[in-house]
Amino acid sequence: MWLPSGLDIPLDSLLSVATDAARQGGAVLAECSRNGVHIELKQTINLVTNADHQAEQRIIDVIHAAFPDHPVLAEERGLSEPCPSRYKWVIDPLDGTTNFAHGFPAYCVSVGVECDGRAIIGVVYDPTRDELFTAQMGHGAYLNGIRISVSTTDHLDRALLVTGFAYNIRETTNNNLDHFARFALKVQGLRRTGTAALDLCYVAAARFDGFWEVTLNPWDMAAGVVILREAGGTVTDFKGAPHSIYGQELVASNGLIHQAMLDLLREDPTPS
Ligand code: IPD
Ligand code: CA
Ligand code: CA
Repeated sequence: MWLPSGLDIPLDSLLSVATDAARQGGAVLAECSRNGVHIELKQTINLVTNADHQAEQRIIDVIHAAFPDHPVLAEERGLSEPCPSRYKWVIDPLDGTTNFAHGFPAYCVSVGVECDGRAIIGVVYDPTRDELFTAQMGHGAYLNGIRISVSTTDHLDRALLVTGFAYNIRETTNNNLDHFARFALKVQGLRRTGTAALDLCYVAAARFDGFWEVTLNPWDMAAGVVILREAGGTVTDFKGAPHSIYGQELVASNGLIHQAMLDLLREDPTPS
């Protein structure tokens, strides 16, 4: 397993700040949900709410109180002033904004840390269920302090999979609808929850057997991929090459059905 060498900050300290930040972000979401949500449109079907902005501010405050020089890449604000640092915090203050805006209780806060480009710390907090998923590289993955591991399902016929659709679904034919149709005929069940970070955690916790998505952003994946890997899962791009949080494609699984998922994703959608 790759581990960054010569780290000058203990992983425990990063994990502890990430946990505090995610919990505090979750508290902001809960508060906004009780007090009323203000919704704005970024694009036709891409929403943002006051909760996204307020949770993001709180999370960044917690991170910078502990590590003032660390750059933060956050969904709503982009990259903070770039400082020379091996570490970068990659955060989604509200993953599942559309669900949140509709009062559908499937959303979370995602706080990841990458070092030298590779995600090493992941914390995902679901305030609706008070579920906290945590992982640091090399130390396993946990749900509310209890170790989790991926499922042992070894065939697509018995697999429950999940996927998602990007906001550009209407603008491109590379919109996952062809993959969705093919998988639907091969698996036991197929879901779309609307929160990629929780999808990754649910594969880690054996609630799903696999997850793929065509176009994700670093903040959707940074925390979840650490949790998934530390739970024994596999994550790659669609070709089976090593996954980067700065790429867009993601295939995540329990490892046992990974090749079958890659094979299906590679199938020509329009065979002659
Ligand atoms: C979205 C969710 C959704 C996924 C989209 C993401 P947001 O993030 O994770 O599940 O399908 O690709 O953009 O906008 O709710 O933070
Ligand atoms: Ca997101
Ligand atoms: Ca978001």
